[in-house]
Parts: sequence; C-alpha cells; structure tokens
Amino acid sequence: MDQFQDQSAAAIRQPQAPPVVRKWWHTATVYQIYPRSFCDSNGDGIGDIPGVTSKLDYLKSLGIDVIWLSPIYKSPMDDNGYDISDYRDIAPEFGTLADFDHLVAKARKHGIGIVLDLVVNHTSDEHPWFVESRKGPGNPFRDFYIWRKPAEDGGPPNGLMSSFGGPAWTLDSETGEYYLHMFSRRQPDLNWENPEVRREIYRMMNWWLERDIAGFRMDVIDYIGKQVDQELVKDGPRLHEYLQEMNRETFGSRNILTVGECWSATPGSALLYSGRDRNELSMVFQFEHVTQQWDEVYGKWRPKPFDLVTLKSVLSKWQYALSDDGWNSLFWGNHDLPRAVSRYGDVTGYHAESAKMLATVLHLMKGTPFVYQGEEIGMTNVPFTTIEQYRDIETINMHRLHVEAGLSPEDFIRGANESARDNARTPMQWSAALHGGFTKGVPWIEVNANYATINAEAAMTDESSIWNHYRKLIAFRKTHPVIVYGLYQSWLDQHPDVFVYTRTLDKDRLVVIANFTPREVPLTVPCELAVSGKCLISNYEPIDALPGENIDLKPYEAFAILSQGP
Ligand code: GLC
Ligand code: CA
Repeated sequence: MDQFQDQSAAAIRQPQAPPVVRKWWHTATVYQIYPRSFCDSNGDGIGDIPGVTSKLDYLKSLGIDVIWLSPIYKSPMDDNGYDISDYRDIAPEFGTLADFDHLVAKARKHGIGIVLDLVVNHTSDEHPWFVESRKGPGNPFRDFYIWRKPAEDGGPPNGLMSSFGGPAWTLDSETGEYYLHMFSRRQPDLNWENPEVRREIYRMMNWWLERDIAGFRMDVIDYIGKQVDQELVKDGPRLHEYLQEMNRETFGSRNILTVGECWSATPGSALLYSGRDRNELSMVFQFEHVTQQWDEVYGKWRPKPFDLVTLKSVLSKWQYALSDDGWNSLFWGNHDLPRAVSRYGDVTGYHAESAKMLATVLHLMKGTPFVYQGEEIGMTNVPFTTIEQYRDIETINMHRLHVEAGLSPEDFIRGANESARDNARTPMQWSAALHGGFTKGVPWIEVNANYATINAEAAMTDESSIWNHYRKLIAFRKTHPVIVYGLYQSWLDQHPDVFVYTRTLDKDRLVVIANFTPREVPLTVPCELAVSGKCLISNYEPIDALPGENIDLKPYEAFAILSQGP
C-alpha cells in the first residue's frame, strides 16, 4: 500500500445535499482591481476609474461577475487610499463621482457588479472628523477616535504596536494625549464603541448602496470590536454585535456580496461571520494558508520554505469546516501579498504550467474565487534592487526599522523581493508597448520588465495561455454544479508533492490532481479514485481516465477528470 494512502482514504464522506438557499455569489468569480495600478486613462502615471471602465470588455471576456475595487475615495494616499479623508467623494487622481456612476452602470450592462472597499476601522488624519477630534476633549468629535492619557512615564498608554512598525500610539502635542492608530500615524482608528460613529458609517454605506453597488469588501473588519485597554484588537467581544447591527441597518435586505478581511478568523469564527442564521457577512477572507508560511518572529519578512503538506492541511481544514454552513472565499493573492506564481510556482522553468496548476487547484474548490489583477496572465514578483524603487509605506517603514536594528540593506531587499506588497502593485501589463501599455506617462511605480513577454495582449491571442486557462475555469463554475456545491474530500494528505481532492454531487464526481513540484512525480493512485470520464481541464495533454495504479505526473501537471454516473 502506498505510504500516503491511509490518512484520508479512511473517511469517505457521503455527498450532502446542496445548501437550501442558493446565492448568486456562489457561482460568481470576483476580480480584484487595485485602481492605482490597473489602467491610466489620462497619462498622469496613475491608474483611474475611466481606465477601469475602458477595460470592461476585457473583464467580460475573462468571464468574471464582480469587480472588487480597492479604495477610490478621497485620500492623502499615505497608504494608497486605505486612508480616507472623505467617504463620499472620489480621489481626484482616480476621477469623479460621475466617472464612478458611469462605471457602475456600464459594468451592470456587462453583467458585472462593483464591490467597494469599506475602510472603517480607521480614517485619514485629514478626515474632517479627525481634524475636529484633534481640537481637544470638549469637541463633539473627540470621541469619534480613541484618545488616552500618557502612561505615568509620559510614554504611550500601553504596548499596542502598529502593523506598519512602531507603537500604535502617537502623542498629539496640542492636547498632550495619545491617539490610537493600528496602521500608519496618518490612519487614526475610529471609536466603534461610540454609537454616533456607527450611525455615520451606516449612513455612508447606505449612500453607496443607493448607487447600485454589488457589495462591500470590509478592510480589517475583525478589528472593530477591539478593547484597547485590554490590548485586545482582533476578534473583540462586541465584533459580532456590531456586524449584526451593520447588517440590519444597511445591506441586510439587499442581495449583495459582503466579504470581511479577517486575519484572525478561525474555522469556528468563520461560521459566526458567515453562518446561514447569523445575519452578518457572505464570507470572510481567512489567511491561515498565508501566515502558516511566516516566521514566528520576523513574520513575512522571513518566509519559511514552502511545505505542501501544511498548505494542504490548512486549505482542507477550511473546506471541511464550512462544508455544510458558512461559505469560503478562495484566493492566492491580493494587493497585500506577493504574486502567487512567484510564491507557489516556478517563474523561470515552468511559468505557464505552474500558474495554471495553481488556478486549477484553487478554482475547483468550494467557495467564491477571487482573482487578483494580473494573476490571470501570470504576473510575477518584481526584482527591485534598491529601496528607492519601492513605494509602499509598510516596506519603507520596515526598511528603516530593520536596518536600524542591524539588518544589512541587501538582506532587507532580498526579503522585500519575496514579500513586499509592491510585488502585487506594479502596473498591470496590458501589452508589449512602453510601460506595458499601462500609461502614456511615467508610471507611479516601475512596471515589471517582463511585460515584453507577460502581457494581456499576448495572452489573449494564445489558445494555450494562462489567461485562457482561467477563462475556462471561471466558465466551468457556471456550468458545473459539482464545482459549486459538491462535497470536498482530500486524499493523500501526507504526500509531500501532490495535491489530490475530489468533489462529489449526486452522480457527478470530480477528481483533481496537481503536482506542486518542477519534477516528474510518480503517483500511486488510490483505487477509490480510479475513474473514467472526461478531462475537464489540464495543463498538459488531456487525461480522460485514471487507472487505479501508478501514473507519472509531469512538472506542475494538474488536471481534473469529471465522471458522471449512470
Ligand atoms: C488592510 C488592507 C491594506 C491596508 C490596511 C490598512 O490590510 O488590505 O492594504 O494597508 O488594511 O487599511
Ligand atoms: Ca490617470
């Protein structure tokens, strides 16, 4: 018997009935746009809303249903728009409200909904609420933010640290009090315990819902229940109370998609957010498959070597946990993470094969897939060589802190090449034209030099491209209920090189097999998986049948066979 066989073969679960309430977003694929880097319509080097509108045909032909737009609101851009100074206006560099309404209307005509990024844990320090709040304890907006007196020694009130480095408290010299900011000092945290803050936010959300948006992606939403004096930030005691209130006061009666960014989510808490009787969110982004690769001390700046067994165990755990209730989001990348093909694939030897393999594995799981802009053409990390090429506030702050602490600048850049957020933020590569066709001006951040070969124009004309592979996967979700609702079962959990799972619905059975290595891998197929049917998708020659014995997988080979019983 094969050494990897015993673990999962033991528990063959019975197919379950699909959930009673089917939602439109169960069959949807979401495409994330980072507006600054997507398409520049006017040559100022910054992507904008008319640029997004000009690419709707492209997105329609890819087949996606929803665009999640990273923030487009008015902002001093300390954190590229995640620092909002006016929730009801558009940043001038991105366009106008009229441009936005036009995008929403035109996207609807293409069958595409627009999901906005809701950033309500904090605002910009230039938001009028904070400008007022700062004036002192008597001001009506003082309590919109979180102010505390200094500790006895005059230092910060407690030990909370900012995600961007340094203390989460900044002393305001005007009033001698500290305010809290879990991110940059220009992103003060709102005080969710103040009912007026919550009321204002719900009014603002309803204002956008009236503009016919299709939903919200909620930035660090697991922070809003924080208990500052206990130094408890994520998953605080009032979090779910607030989300239920928000649901009731805003989108609860509407058929929209909501997804919370929840770095603290566990399979248990995910059911609290997305369980069918909870009246909170459609789903959350969980990050366990990301953070399990981080160093215990240095976090993402020193990633651990890739370990497929752990990755499989995390992804499978989430598939099982939300199998009967709740709903998973599925993603490899976003604007905060390195490029998936650089992280999990092989960009030099097997670029197309590994990118297609990753897409196959993710898109055939149960949940709503999210494609991050450029992923569909296999965009890669960017090999910047100096800190001056980076733009992200997090990377610039961390560079200063790490170098001060004794790390060599070269070592820092090496880490940043793997992990910095700017890897995902270089401009979308549209064509082989100058700057990848992103802008006619000077781009705000350099385009990855590989645009000459990795670009959308080339991908769309090549039948065997990564792009066409994504297109097929996105379309299958519409035509194959087994992909949407089928029961998930993983196999060969301890196999270090190969990911195997099945999906089962009524008489349909999908077997997915993926080699995560640049080597040929011999595989003993468990006899339970011997099937014959139709090859749904493959990144080499199509395979229609699996013998219940040995096969040889090619480097990064991945395929799915669909068998339909009598
Ligand atoms: C979220 C966003 C990230 C941003 C942070 C602060 O993690 O995804 O880009 O910097 O929140 O808003
Ligand atoms: Ca522009």
